[in-house]
Amino acid sequence: MKKILFISSIGTLLLACSPKNVEIVKIERTTIMTPSADLANGFELYQTNCGGCHELKNELAYSKEQWQVILPKMAKEAHLDAKQEKSISNYVYWRINQK
Ligand code: HEC
Repeated sequence: MKKILFISSIGTLLLACSPKNVEIVKIERTTIMTPSADLANGFELYQTNCGGCHELKNELAYSKEQWQVILPKMAKEAHLDAKQEKSISNYVYWRINQK
């Protein structure tokens, strides 16, 4: 109970200075540093679009070759437009290159 209250008060604090969905995303998962706004956007899209039907999959659990098959399928599942799909792909490929 104490923990929940603590988290929600952080949420409220952060909400005061930035867009709402960004902060919710940070609370649900980890915060990672990305070198560009496009990658940060891809990370956000990944979290908001890819965890609805199954748990959020670990990006690092699949190789680039596997993602090249999976992502177009899942982009369709998530009804992403081409721009969102590109942004998520950029993010995933960048992320697995950090391994
Ligand atoms: C409309 C529902 C839905 C959405 C939205 C969705 N998925 Fe999936 N996804 C599935 C189903 C169904 C499976 C197959 C069953 C499973 O592995 O859980 C799957 C499987 C996967 C797998 C495992 C594939 C494998 O071969 O092992 C990955 C990785 C994945 N999804 C990633 C994503 C990503 C990334 C997104 C966001 C772009 C996404 N999913 C959005 C329904 C969805």
